[in-house]
Amino acid sequence: NSAADSGNGARGLWSSKFAFILAATGSAVGLGNIWKFPYVTGENGGGAFVLVYLLCIAIIGIPIMMAEVFIGRNGRHNPITSFRLVAERNLASPAWRVSAIVGMLAAFIILSFYSVIGGWAASYIGHAAMGDFTGGTAESVGELFGGLLGSPIQLLAWHTVFMALVVLVVSRGLKGGLERAVTILMPALFLLLLLVVGYATTTGHFGEAVSFLFTPNFEALTVKGVLVALGHAFFTLSLGMAIMMAYGSYLGRDVSIGRTAVSVAIMDTVVALLAGLAIFPVVFANGLEAGAGPGLIFQTLPLAFGNMPMGSLFGTLFFVLLLFAAWTSGISLLEPVVEWVEEKTSLARTGSAILVGVLCWALGIVSILSLNVWSDVTPLGMFAAFEGKTVFDLLDYFTANIMLPLSGLLTAIFVGWFVAKESLKSDLALQGGAFSLWYNLIRFVTPIAVAIVFVYNLTA
Ligand code: PHE
Ligand code: NA
Repeated sequence: NSAADSGNGARGLWSSKFAFILAATGSAVGLGNIWKFPYVTGENGGGAFVLVYLLCIAIIGIPIMMAEVFIGRNGRHNPITSFRLVAERNLASPAWRVSAIVGMLAAFIILSFYSVIGGWAASYIGHAAMGDFTGGTAESVGELFGGLLGSPIQLLAWHTVFMALVVLVVSRGLKGGLERAVTILMPALFLLLLLVVGYATTTGHFGEAVSFLFTPNFEALTVKGVLVALGHAFFTLSLGMAIMMAYGSYLGRDVSIGRTAVSVAIMDTVVALLAGLAIFPVVFANGLEAGAGPGLIFQTLPLAFGNMPMGSLFGTLFFVLLLFAAWTSGISLLEPVVEWVEEKTSLARTGSAILVGVLCWALGIVSILSLNVWSDVTPLGMFAAFEGKTVFDLLDYFTANIMLPLSGLLTAIFVGWFVAKESLKSDLALQGGAFSLWYNLIRFVTPIAVAIVFVYNLTA
């Protein structure tokens, strides 16, 4: 890259803007697209929900992503230091970096349980390939899933495998690790997804899935549905976790932040919709419930694949796809914290990745035990709002409902109100009306919308 990037020192840059887009898309495309999006759509009435969700991506998701990438690229350090540097350059309080601290803490906590779920995907590859679902019934498939969740040893083994895969990539650094992984995994993921969608078109229920996903039924849309759409827009684009700041810190000056953010959001949305088109025909072909909750992927789908022609093959491909999606997201969750440790201690890249990975792996054991041995332990159970929530549930709840929106809200307010307009203008390099549009969104619309969801989640 150009001389303008010499300030990036020994840290290195993505080899091209496509490398950045692939990495950011790799982060964005994850369990949220393949596991969560189809089932929240199913629960919230299909097309009308999709429409609201798309609106949220456009007016909340993309503007915040741009703000995060801006901070990373302007600061050229780990998210916390970048935030402080940007604040200092704009004569704002360095305390704004609390936004990055909350985000990185959230990333660390989320990775601890995301890895456990990533482990489920890994274990299901083997089950699907060995035909364990073939001819399965609701009971047999449920038993298999229950058996996995009930076994701390199995869960620990797969959690360890998943975390090791993530550490392996991050320890090799930007080009030899992250970039190499995403340039192999992302095209493979797209190909697998298209294969499974192609398979879904042969089920005879494809049209039903299309109308389910795209016919807006506004009666089925509730206020809660709108807030779920907003929250999901945030999660699906990996915002509020300092990830886009970390990835942005390696982005060349000549790349348009606006255009890359839009590309990432479009690809993430396309994958979510394709996942819906892959999953719902299979669900409908077997007369199963569309809104089957989180069990959709690990119970409903195996049952469906197990009873269809070539189901073992396509079931296996599906879980490989799920693992790849989770892997590239896991990498992005580890990177911000590793970047920080690497810059703040005398540890090199490999040592930093192993240290953070081991700590995160250890925290994951808490989530594993919550699923079985500690399934009755509900530390905040005395408060009505947390009744019945295990430690796993609480970690998920506090990160998704409090830490991410808080971090995103602070970032939006900081960038919208405390960073000099000229600096934003020159860094974002948006043409004409696009800048004013973004500027108004990040100053007014985004903070208000995020604040509403935040307050709603606290009171609900
Ligand atoms: N964006 C990812 C998804 O949609 C989820 C994720 C969250 C990934 C946080 C990384 C970090 O699944
Ligand atoms: Na996503």
